[in-house]
Amino acid sequence: MKALDGVRILDMTHVQSGPTCTQLLAWFGADVIKVERPGKGDATRSQLRDIPDVDSLYFTMLNHNKRSVTLNTKHDDGKAIFTRLLETCDVIAENFAPGALDRMGFSWERIQEINPRIIYASVKGFGPGPYEDCKVYENVAQCTGGGASTTGFPDGPPVVAGAQIGDSGTGLHLALGIVTALFQREQTGRGQRVVCAMQDGVLNLCRVKLRDQQRLSHGPLKEYPQYPNGTFGKATPRAGNASGGGQPGWIVKCKGWETDPDAYIYIIAQAAAFDGLARMIGHEDWLEDPEWNTPAARLPKIDQMFSEIERWTRTKTKFEVMEKLNPLNVPCGPVLSIKELSQEPSLRQTGTVVEVDHPERGSYLSVGNPIKLSDSPVEVKRSPLLGEHTDEILRDVLGMDEAAIASAKADGVV
Ligand SMILES: CC(C)(COP(=O)(O)OP(=O)(O)OC[C@H]1O[C@@H](n2cnc3c(N)ncnc32)[C@H](O)[C@@H]1OP(=O)(O)O)[C@@H](O)C(=O)NCCC(=O)NCCS
Repeated sequence: MKALDGVRILDMTHVQSGPTCTQLLAWFGADVIKVERPGKGDATRSQLRDIPDVDSLYFTMLNHNKRSVTLNTKHDDGKAIFTRLLETCDVIAENFAPGALDRMGFSWERIQEINPRIIYASVKGFGPGPYEDCKVYENVAQCTGGGASTTGFPDGPPVVAGAQIGDSGTGLHLALGIVTALFQREQTGRGQRVVCAMQDGVLNLCRVKLRDQQRLSHGPLKEYPQYPNGTFGKATPRAGNASGGGQPGWIVKCKGWETDPDAYIYIIAQAAAFDGLARMIGHEDWLEDPEWNTPAARLPKIDQMFSEIERWTRTKTKFEVMEKLNPLNVPCGPVLSIKELSQEPSLRQTGTVVEVDHPERGSYLSVGNPIKLSDSPVEVKRSPLLGEHTDEILRDVLGMDEAAIASAKADGVV
């Protein structure tokens, strides 16, 4: 049995944010029926293709374990089929531009009339306010949610992160909203509206930066590289690679950095493990020196401390540094490239990186379910071809007969 067995999701999501959410729910056992426009489907099927005429990795890696039905929801007969799907589903999820479902004739009021138990879940770029009608993609969300203004080095421009905190991050938020609403429905019998704005999702992940904004009015942010020699402006600044917590941290070079862009390691010079770290890098002298042997004394010299640490790390590979510092309880982590992660045996063993077979592209690598439930096993299945399950869904879910299915096809409805 899987956690969400028996839950059926009408998946109108596309691109990344919504599909991330419904893919997770599918991995937990929900029956996810992806509704796509006939002939075209989710735009990502053809975006960033690596093999001509084959569903892109962009699509295949975000739509595992789903069934695909093609349906023109702007055609009257398509609307009738869509209405019947709404009747049979527990959740409808979508991330169209604002108002798209209303324009098809499916407002929240209408959806509730059709099925009062349904949960209507959406990702939008912004919540109600000046930008509510805007279309939004990942980097727009990172910029408008506080991610970009706080990422990068103090003397450089704002930078967006490689992690897709706007799209996949908001998809995760939405998944939590959906299961929470399903849980409440157990008590009330009623569905509800669940909306996650990408700006809100990014800001939620930038929570500590709002913490720092407020701390700034009480004095300089001592863990930021601007302290003590630089200046602070009015807003939370970019902190480079500073740790952001109460312990100083930085990325330092390791052996091979001249040619390998990922020969670096993150080291946190936590007070509790400082003695061991100082000894390891050959600075026993720091232990007796009042200029170095307290966190307060080191604080104004963090740069100098990390350059001394780096003099040592440059003589070792990032994995050797890890081996030496881990037993000393010094928190540290090598900068791992995506290539290294894709080859890491332990990630394969846990199913976090999986190899999936696809009838048109052959085998490819994907990220499996990062959320591990002990009683709900995950089997990652390939993404569906466009409309692969149209007949099956019309017949088995909606009870349409062959003649009705043939007529819907002839009219271009499916
Ligand atoms: C992502 C985004 C920018 C893409 O914009 P887009 O490619 O122009 O696509 P839209 O969402 O506007 O939808 C396109 C149209 O297809 C229509 N459509 C979608 N599925 C359909 C179907 N099965 N049958 C008929 N029409 C369909 C929609 O109704 C909409 O038509 P309309 O503009 O006439 O109302 C936009 O969807 C958006 O801002 N979404 C919310 C935020 C979000 O999730 N962004 C992150 C994406 S990773």
